[in-house]
Amino acid sequence: MRFSTNRPTRRHLLQGAAATALSAVPTGWAIAQARPLKVGLMLPYSGTFAKLGENITFAIEMLIAEKGGKLGGREIQLVKLDDESKPENAPQNTDRLVKRDQVDVLIGTVHSGVQMGIHKVVRESGTLTIIPNAGANAITRALCAPNVFRASFSNWQCPYGMGLVLGKRGVKKAAWVSWDYAAGTEAAEGFGDGLAKAGGELTKVLTLKFPDTNFQPLLAQLPELGVEAVGAFFAGGGAVQFVKEYKAAGIKMPLCGAFLTEGTLDAQGAAAEGIETALHYGDGLDNPKNNAFRKAFLDKAKREADVYAVQGYDSAQLLAVGLEAVKGKIEDEAGVYKAMRAAKIDSPRGPISISPSQEVVHNIYLRRAEGGLNKVVGIAAEALADPGTGCKL
Ligand code: BEZ
Repeated sequence: MRFSTNRPTRRHLLQGAAATALSAVPTGWAIAQARPLKVGLMLPYSGTFAKLGENITFAIEMLIAEKGGKLGGREIQLVKLDDESKPENAPQNTDRLVKRDQVDVLIGTVHSGVQMGIHKVVRESGTLTIIPNAGANAITRALCAPNVFRASFSNWQCPYGMGLVLGKRGVKKAAWVSWDYAAGTEAAEGFGDGLAKAGGELTKVLTLKFPDTNFQPLLAQLPELGVEAVGAFFAGGGAVQFVKEYKAAGIKMPLCGAFLTEGTLDAQGAAAEGIETALHYGDGLDNPKNNAFRKAFLDKAKREADVYAVQGYDSAQLLAVGLEAVKGKIEDEAGVYKAMRAAKIDSPRGPISISPSQEVVHNIYLRRAEGGLNKVVGIAAEALADPGTGCKL
């Protein structure tokens, strides 16, 4: 069902009531302005993606602090909720933030399955939502909504870049290994599309349940597949274990992918050396914004920045663009959305913009893990936009 901008949501009804009240009380606007804006952070603070949620949070706090604690002149109050990367709890958790805590904005989350649960609620409530990681394709495709923006990536984008690079190198057949939910299976599609575009083919996809790490049965199949390369999507703790076990299994085909070595190199150690990944960020990106960002992040978090930190920072940057355009008057939804859609942001990853389906447009870099860093060695796809198939805004 297509999202209808005309449908009166609970939020619109509440706003209607608020508008009536404001016209009756001349000081209402000033009182509303004095109130801090509540920003809900629905992120994983436990489980395999805990570090991802923490880094996103540190970076959001960092951007708000850099702006003096205010965005568009409004104080910001953060309300944090641990979603545990559990899709089954997502609608209820989102309800808690939207209905009980009455957040003005929701920033979340990391896991694509949880994002689908959030989406169900916020399409109905109309809450401004900014996605700082989860790549579920549908959110900026057939299920796109005017109040939902993504500052991270679609699951299709990075693996598409990786497949393109392999195909251009002459790889004819490759396999993909991942968890069996949207982030893994949609990444496989992107990888296959990139390979096909450059004359190769994705011939096998192997999956296991999220967040399982029983990789041995999958690893045992790989040498028999007749492929020249293996691509994979895993992240956080799962990625650490997969990369170590792949190396220990002595598999000859080179391992590549998306995310696989991001924020995990210290823990992966020598097993990660030489692994190529395509991603919209790399450790050595030498631009003034990234250099300042990495230094500030290290000061705050006492650890190195990674792509998740960048995405958190950019989510807050995007919100700042919207709020600054309306001087903090978030009730001016049209003004906020218009400014966010037109945003041109100086990100640590390089310049980014927002596509018509409200998805980030960015370079996909080719990186190689070397000496504990994901070094940028080329551009896999320049200014890549998700196709946004089926989105009508
Ligand atoms: C996802 O579920 O969309 C996701 C999780 C971790 C890293 C990248 C994507």
